[in-house]
Amino acid sequence: MRLFIDTANINEIRTAAEWGILAGVTTNPSLLAREGWSNPETAIADISRVTDGAISIEVVSSETRAMVEESRRYAAVSSQAVIKIPMTPSGLAAAKQLSNEGIKTNITLVFSVAQGLLAAETGANYISVFVGRWDDISSDGMDPVYDLAGIFSQHGIEAKIIAASIRNPLHVIKAAEAGAHFATVPFKVLEQMFNHPRTEAGIAKFQADWENVKERMMTTPIQ
Ligand code: E4P
Repeated sequence: MRLFIDTANINEIRTAAEWGILAGVTTNPSLLAREGWSNPETAIADISRVTDGAISIEVVSSETRAMVEESRRYAAVSSQAVIKIPMTPSGLAAAKQLSNEGIKTNITLVFSVAQGLLAAETGANYISVFVGRWDDISSDGMDPVYDLAGIFSQHGIEAKIIAASIRNPLHVIKAAEAGAHFATVPFKVLEQMFNHPRTEAGIAKFQADWENVKERMMTTPIQ
């Protein structure tokens, strides 16, 4: 399983890219709004300067024709652009058309196996299965990820499953175990994944031991 960062914050994207762990970026209209992007095309262009991975950007139109036109504009900005299309009948019709045109798509707001199967029929490159929003209402959001991963593998379906709406490091681990191809992870959760008290204690001990040796070497007279 590989990692996307789920943010529209350019500094977070740059930092994660520098860590060398990034396969790409996913955004949505809420994330763009939070970071003050008023033009998705500008966001794609600026993000493509800090990462060479996939950049998912979501349409805000709701009718098929408008979604297709909006998607073409975003796809024209960068070959890295992947167009997020909502899991609706109009959305799937748009996604099918975009796939036929060779524009990469990511069907978003998928919550069930049935939706995932429909989404895959469009030839979408990615299917974003939302985990955390299921957990928020006391259901196990990883179940559809696990079920879809098994079905896609069984039937040779090429669409890649993105575990989305990730809330904590355990979600990332469970997504990998469930067979997701990608998890899209907020910056804060990526940071949490680094942390382990034993790692920090280990580094502190190694550094202290090394400083001691250096000090002894400097104070021991040469024979
Ligand atoms: C990514 O594709 C989704 O838009 C995102 O993961 C949603 O996350 P949220 O449920 O935390 O808003």
